[in-house]
Amino acid sequence: MTNPANDKTGGLWARPKQKWLLGIPLGALIAFGLGAIALGTTNYVLHETSTTDFCYACHSHENFIKPEYEASSHFNNLAGVRAGCADCHLPHDNWFELVWTKMVVSLDIIPELAGKLDTAEKYEEHRAEMAESVWRQFKENDSKFCRSCHSIDAMNLDAQERRTARQHSQAADKGETCIDCHYGIVHREPEGASEIIERLQEEFSVDDTD
Ligand code: HEC
Ligand code: HEC
Ligand code: HEC
Ligand code: HEC
Repeated sequence: MTNPANDKTGGLWARPKQKWLLGIPLGALIAFGLGAIALGTTNYVLHETSTTDFCYACHSHENFIKPEYEASSHFNNLAGVRAGCADCHLPHDNWFELVWTKMVVSLDIIPELAGKLDTAEKYEEHRAEMAESVWRQFKENDSKFCRSCHSIDAMNLDAQERRTARQHSQAADKGETCIDCHYGIVHREPEGASEIIERLQEEFSVDDTD
């Protein structure tokens, strides 16, 4: 069956002369197996904690988040493409950033248990500050979560209204990002949204001239 000539080729998988040497490839195999299981489990956990149902575990809130989201064009649209919570709120291009974000987000269990957002009134009380924090993140990362689906390069600008096409084609040069113009598309705008956006625009344009 086996060609004795192959035994002479040596290498890691050749039967070693001393029995204990077998431990090296065997150990590597076991380490690889354990690593794969650990990674598989991590990826399983990462996947399970990226579903909209997982976010609903805390953010179902029948009176606010859920009905607002389900009425939005990102839940239901002509193209039949649905953006889940994670598509707009979690990084996809960097595994370490995803794991880090999850660890930070896990800490939300504390305010959740404290009932920080458990009624519509409490949610409204905090909506503006939470929205601002999300907008700030989108200003910092140039709305990269939106860009995982949309790209201005891929837009048929000719089919858009002239003004809209101009705004899209000039956005990058003017340092504008998607949420400068598109906010409150999934969630209801908090009170004073346009003032907050303006304030962030000023803050970030000052940063650019440094
Ligand atoms: C354990 C309960 C829990 C789960 C699960 C959860 N959240 Fe939250 N989330 C909270 C609480 C509580 C807050 C308010 C935290 C605060 O402002 O201190 C919050 C805040 C937020 C905010 C506003 C963040 C900010 O910067 O102010 C976003 C966006 C968000 N969650 C999205 C998500 C998404 C997307 C998921 C699913 C991947 C998710 N959450 C899963 C409890 C949870
Ligand atoms: C998972 C993919 C996905 C992500 C992520 C996504 N979108 Fe969309 N978006 C869509 C689809 C699909 C449509 C509907 C297309 C249609 O049928 O016209 C849409 C529609 C829109 C529209 C036009 C309809 C409306 O509601 O005004 C705007 C504006 C828009 N998206 C902006 C954004 C912005 C801003 C972000 C980031 C906060 C974003 N999108 C993130 C897929 C996505
Ligand atoms: C300077 C303002 C501005 C910026 C920045 C901007 N848009 Fe728009 N966009 C508009 C206007 C105005 C419209 C037309 C009205 C509407 O649908 O909201 C529009 C429309 C759209 C539409 C619907 C197109 C259609 O005709 O159905 C999508 C999708 C969209 N924008 C996505 C984006 C994304 C993604 C970004 C970031 C890469 C972005 N926009 C950046 C102003 C802007
Ligand atoms: C198309 C992208 C998109 C999707 C899908 C989306 N969000 Fe958001 N989310 C945003 C943006 C942008 C903001 C900043 C405020 C705004 O513009 O409405 C935001 C704000 C929030 C906030 C801060 C409070 C508020 O009401 O503004 C929470 C909490 C949140 N999202 C949770 C969720 C959860 C949970 C889901 C899924 C059920 C979800 N989001 C789906 C884009 C999205």
